[in-house]
Amino acid sequence: MSEANEKLKSEFNEWAADGRGEEMENHHAGIAEPVFVRMALQSGERVLDLGCGAGWATRKLARAVEGGPGMAVGHDISDEMIGRARAASTAVDNVLFTIGAADEIPWRDEYFDKVLSIESFYYYPDPSSVLRELLRALAPGGSLYILINLYRENPYSLRWVKELKVPVQVHSEGEYAELLRAAGFVNVAVDHIPDPTPTPDDYSGKWFANAEELRDFKRIGALLLTARKPPAE
Ligand SMILES: C[S@@+](CC[C@H](N)C(=O)[O-])C[C@H]1O[C@@H](n2cnc3c(N)ncnc32)[C@H](O)[C@@H]1O
Repeated sequence: MSEANEKLKSEFNEWAADGRGEEMENHHAGIAEPVFVRMALQSGERVLDLGCGAGWATRKLARAVEGGPGMAVGHDISDEMIGRARAASTAVDNVLFTIGAADEIPWRDEYFDKVLSIESFYYYPDPSSVLRELLRALAPGGSLYILINLYRENPYSLRWVKELKVPVQVHSEGEYAELLRAAGFVNVAVDHIPDPTPTPDDYSGKWFANAEELRDFKRIGALLLTARKPPAE
């Protein structure tokens, strides 16, 4: 594993030990729900949750594809996150978790119908190699959904860059779209997903000066990148 990925593994193992894997469901559910709807998951589909953390979204995906070969796989570089994801998923039959870097997905070519990645993509040290790996693992015509809060057009998210203990990639919407096209994806689209969850007036967290800023951050919304692998000839 590269030095950059080793660093990510160690940082996210600390997050997992602090219980932050489970907390992320509260932080991300508001922006993830509309994406689950757009994914239009069908019984029998095989879906990958890339950078799955403690696996809350992977379990949701698994329930949505139940039936026949339908299964959800969560993949993450942090073995501590995956340990927690496995422990919390014993009641779900059609879910599996694997440990590793995003550009080393241990599944055969063209296995997955759909891939989702929530709040993880900007950590990947080499996003193009991850996109090539996803193109390999997706079935022809399969679709990709990348949801991220940290991107150039969201000024509040740029504050995180110097506070996080690991390097992150900061790209604009246009740069992301270009990365996807350059990797070989088609039907590349960029959208914003506002976070509809209410913000209490007495907000006193670390990342925003006040509740008004947090509301504005939620109004700007997360960046949703969608794309398809070209269909078979
Ligand atoms: C902010 S968390 C989001 C987790 C989850 N998607 C969620 O919404 O709860 C980012 C996740 O990406 C994973 N991650 C970061 N860099 C990675 C890499 N290079 N390869 C695979 N996973 C990575 C981390 O271990 C962490 O679990």
